[in-house]
Amino acid sequence: MEKYEEYLHMLVDEIHSTIFATVDSSGNPVTCAIDMMLADENGLYFLTAKGKSFYDRLISHPAISLTGLKGKDTMSSKSITIYGNVREIGSSLLSEIFTKNQYMAEIYPDEESRAALTVFQIYEGEGEFFDLSVKPIFREKFSFGNAMIKETGYFITDGCDGCGLCCSVCPQKCIDTSHIPFKIEQEHCLHCGRCADICDQQAIERR
Ligand SMILES: Cc1cc2nc3c(=O)[nH]c(=O)nc-3n(C[C@H](O)[C@H](O)[C@H](O)COP(=O)(O)O)c2cc1C
Repeated sequence: MEKYEEYLHMLVDEIHSTIFATVDSSGNPVTCAIDMMLADENGLYFLTAKGKSFYDRLISHPAISLTGLKGKDTMSSKSITIYGNVREIGSSLLSEIFTKNQYMAEIYPDEESRAALTVFQIYEGEGEFFDLSVKPIFREKFSFGNAMIKETGYFITDGCDGCGLCCSVCPQKCIDTSHIPFKIEQEHCLHCGRCADICDQQAIERR
């Protein structure tokens, strides 16, 4: 299984309820709670009812963002965030969703009520797993569909003279000093920017 699939399955099986952002007709962000019902190599699936404002927002502006969180408090929590695009696929996966997520039968008890429902696929997206339960923190980007990972954060360039000022201010102690230029361990970096602020060679660039 590819890395991105592991994260999509974690969203469905371990986190399940996410906070989901859409954009309304005035361009303002709107969040709501949405359950992630299924995942496969082609993306993530959730459902909604066609009568909801949430449905209208998805149709008129199919770019979305979501965050799912698991843990009992901040320092024991992991999150997965996705920015992606959705498309409506209708009722084809409804019975599979109701079989896997049996609580749905308490909300929509009979076939008649289920006629209101429609399934959406998040068919492409970029995401990030962020884990505060380990030290140093761990983060990892992933993407699926045609989306590409955009490299963001702080990067040490050839201007580094190995003075070590950056290491003295790094809260996660995640700068590898074994070679010059030093290297930021991206998977442990908070993106706080202290290293770039203090570097007197201006050798740390922000992407
Ligand atoms: C834990 C939880 C999970 C939810 N999951 C869904 C869901 O999967 N699909 C859905 O349409 N609504 C779901 N809801 C309800 C929506 O969050 C709610 O209908 C939404 O805020 C309404 O938005 P709207 O009035 O803008 O359409 C869920 C609510 C909770 C509390």
